[in-house]
Amino acid sequence: IEKGGFPHFMLKEIFEQPETIKNAMRGRLIPATGDVRLGGLDMTEEQLRDVKRILLIGCGTSWHAGLIGEYMIEEKTRIPVEVEYASEFRYRNPVIEEGTVVFAISQSGETVDTLAALREAEKRGARCMGICNVVGSTIARESHAGVYIHAGPEIGVASTKAFTSQITVLALLALVFGRLRTISSSEGQKIIQALMRVPDQVAEILTMHEEIRKIAEEYYHHNNFLYLGRGANYPVALEGALKLKEISYLHAEGYPAAEMKHGPIALIDENMPVVFICPHDNAYQKIVGNICEVKARKGKIIAITNEGNSEVVEMADHVIYIPRTLDFLYPILAVIPLQLLAYHIAVLRGCNVDQP
Ligand code: F6R
Repeated sequence: IEKGGFPHFMLKEIFEQPETIKNAMRGRLIPATGDVRLGGLDMTEEQLRDVKRILLIGCGTSWHAGLIGEYMIEEKTRIPVEVEYASEFRYRNPVIEEGTVVFAISQSGETVDTLAALREAEKRGARCMGICNVVGSTIARESHAGVYIHAGPEIGVASTKAFTSQITVLALLALVFGRLRTISSSEGQKIIQALMRVPDQVAEILTMHEEIRKIAEEYYHHNNFLYLGRGANYPVALEGALKLKEISYLHAEGYPAAEMKHGPIALIDENMPVVFICPHDNAYQKIVGNICEVKARKGKIIAITNEGNSEVVEMADHVIYIPRTLDFLYPILAVIPLQLLAYHIAVLRGCNVDQP
């Protein structure tokens, strides 16, 4: 009963995402002016305008969300953003200057490395915020302020719905900072309209569940997988590979697609499935070139793209379509098929999906 009719918590949580993404935005959007209200930040407009640098810290999937946040926030606000593994940050001598704001990203709010990194940043005088799911968790309590993602309990060990909610909140943060700097009211309105469409678009992708299971059936006996993406979809490639490794015990690597030629290309032959995250964004033409290189080496291509991208469709062995959105929001949509692919491959291999 707890699993709501799904065979595993992970699948249930994947299917909850239209709702959890909505919950991450609920009461926070002001469509009429293109603004976002994040009361939990507890900062005045003047304080928000004084922020000179943003540091995002986290581990695993939360770190991947941070990488996407870097693309989103720098692109939309021009504030320099750095993303760091909490486990590295806590043991080195990090530079924290005046005007630095640190966001600790953690689903559980209890990850020891992230908590220690937060404490280190606080000691050095940074304003520290949590982006947490679990209300009242240690990171949420120890940070100066923060934003809850409101994804509800995540029981499957592999993080899914928390990830898409983290990215959603990071997009909202980009709007909060951006509207005080570089984003006009009309651009803000456009972004909010696009954000409001995301839950239905995720639901649309989930209807392809069965098609994705069939692709998993074709590939679950392979031992290695490569995931490639460019721009904000490069961290999506990392996340797709991590999900597969974590629950199916297969070797998978995520790479920026253009880096493939600097080494990993040597691995590509007819036994290497390559998952391309290639929606029609500003990196699209470039990634088509990378797909050609894989095709020339007879790699098997699974492409996540939009309807109408004929170059990709002609070259790919399998195509999973996602709806169109703004370039910087594609990661929220593109990761859904990758979660389902990892889930089905793990189930077909007889793995304990919820507690790897
Ligand atoms: C991967 C996964 C882990 C967590 C990481 C951080 O599916 O779940 O990589 O993302 O352990 O956990 P939180 O976000 O709770 O700090």
